[in-house]
Amino acid sequence: MRADARWRLAAVALLLPLAAASCRQGMYDQAKYEPYEESALFPNGSSARPIPAGTVPRGGLMEDRVWSTGIEEGGEFAALPVPVTPELLARGRDRFDVFCAPCHDRVGNGDGMIVRRGYLRPPSYHTARLRDAPDGYLFDVITRGFGQMPSYASQVPAADRWAIVAYIRALQVSQDTGLGDLPPELRRAAVAELGPPPGPTPGGAEAPGGPAAVPGPPAAAGPGEETDSP
Ligand code: HEC
Repeated sequence: MRADARWRLAAVALLLPLAAASCRQGMYDQAKYEPYEESALFPNGSSARPIPAGTVPRGGLMEDRVWSTGIEEGGEFAALPVPVTPELLARGRDRFDVFCAPCHDRVGNGDGMIVRRGYLRPPSYHTARLRDAPDGYLFDVITRGFGQMPSYASQVPAADRWAIVAYIRALQVSQDTGLGDLPPELRRAAVAELGPPPGPTPGGAEAPGGPAAVPGPPAAAGPGEETDSP
């Protein structure tokens, strides 16, 4: 009885790979046309059929023009079509750090790792021109590419492109806001965390935070360099 069971087991073990291999072979050899293969079935000899006019790939139907292009009916660039929420900004930051920071760096100065190794240097986001650029323009640059920058439409879906645009706006505010622009509690918290602002501080380390102690906006490159160097 026992020897019998062992024989049966051995037989199964031997046959199993054979069975598996034959299944796989069947999948390999199933009847199908390879791309560009000839076919006697159609008069033009090609197995590939012409795509009917107006065919749209799955997920490629641009029902909402503004949402998927950033451009209004009239041709003007659109404003952000979604409300700005902490979740949107968090998503935008996450995607920006993956898809944009390699060139634009995490602050948007244009000093990413790829640039440091020789890629064309993109312009900083912290210029008047790009600060004033409409949301839809930034969306369009991501969607279609710009000059040497490739399109990211195939890797970044529209919802994430809008999230990135919102995050670029936050980056722009972050680099263009002086201590004096903050409400008093935030100003105190910033000084407590970052230390007193550089520059002429006649009163010493203790800055009371009154209107007289308001410094000008920081130099555009300063905080960016600091953030990017580690
Ligand atoms: C491989 C490097 C690279 C990546 C990644 C990249 N960019 Fe760029 N970007 C560039 C370069 C280079 C330019 C300048 C192109 C030119 O002037 O020919 C540019 C230009 C821009 C501009 C300015 C366009 C103008 O009007 O001057 C914006 C905005 C921009 N990129 C946004 C983004 C965003 C958002 C992402 C991420 C989704 C991104 N880029 C990813 C390289 C990159």
